[in-house]
Amino acid sequence: MGQVRLYIAVSIDGYIAAADGGVDWLAPYPAEQFGFDAFIATIGTVVMGRKTHDQARSFDTWPYAGKRTIVLTTRPLEPPHADVETWSGEIGPLCDALGKSRGDVWLVGGSSVTRAFLDARRIDRLELYVIPILLGSGIRLFAESPVLQQARLADATMLAQGVVRLTYDLWR
Ligand SMILES: NC(=O)c1ccc[n+]([C@@H]2O[C@H](COP(=O)([O-])OP(=O)(O)OC[C@H]3O[C@@H](n4cnc5c(N)ncnc54)[C@H](OP(=O)(O)O)[C@@H]3O)[C@@H](O)[C@H]2O)c1
Repeated sequence: MGQVRLYIAVSIDGYIAAADGGVDWLAPYPAEQFGFDAFIATIGTVVMGRKTHDQARSFDTWPYAGKRTIVLTTRPLEPPHADVETWSGEIGPLCDALGKSRGDVWLVGGSSVTRAFLDARRIDRLELYVIPILLGSGIRLFAESPVLQQARLADATMLAQGVVRLTYDLWR
């Protein structure tokens, strides 16, 4: 398997969504202007939480077309989607099952799934797009955890519109 990469946009004060789950504040920063096409070309599988999936289904276009897509959920998808698989339970066995997949794994989020992958030490790389906004409240990128984890800064790049991309490698 390739790397498991958390690729995500985050406010300066550490939020990935407003308190109501909204991401309108990201509209002025379309991912396509920040290297998304090159990124997605390296991805074979996308993994996300149920809330992130349900929100993405409400968008005009399904952002993950053509990619193997796995949604972590304890409930059936309604309606079921032929292009999406579901997974319930431990992260380690999921990653082991992905072992034969081609390409990297994009961990889309949200917060709950990110925490589960971090605690299982199954993320290889963090790719954080820091958006120049202070949301003040919302859904935190990193939920609290007793687990301490070291990271190595691999890259810091200033992009357009004051966006900064921070790339960290994690040691499992
Ligand atoms: N800024 C960004 O780039 C970005 C990217 C992604 C997401 N987001 C935001 O993140 C927010 C959602 O984050 P969130 O933390 O609230 O939710 P989430 O991580 O997207 O989904 C959480 C849900 O996933 C299911 N789940 C999680 N772990 C599981 C496991 N191990 N086994 C089975 N099911 C599991 C549970 O659903 P059930 O038990 O109910 O099935 C849980 O309630 C959204 O507002 C979205 O906009 C932002």
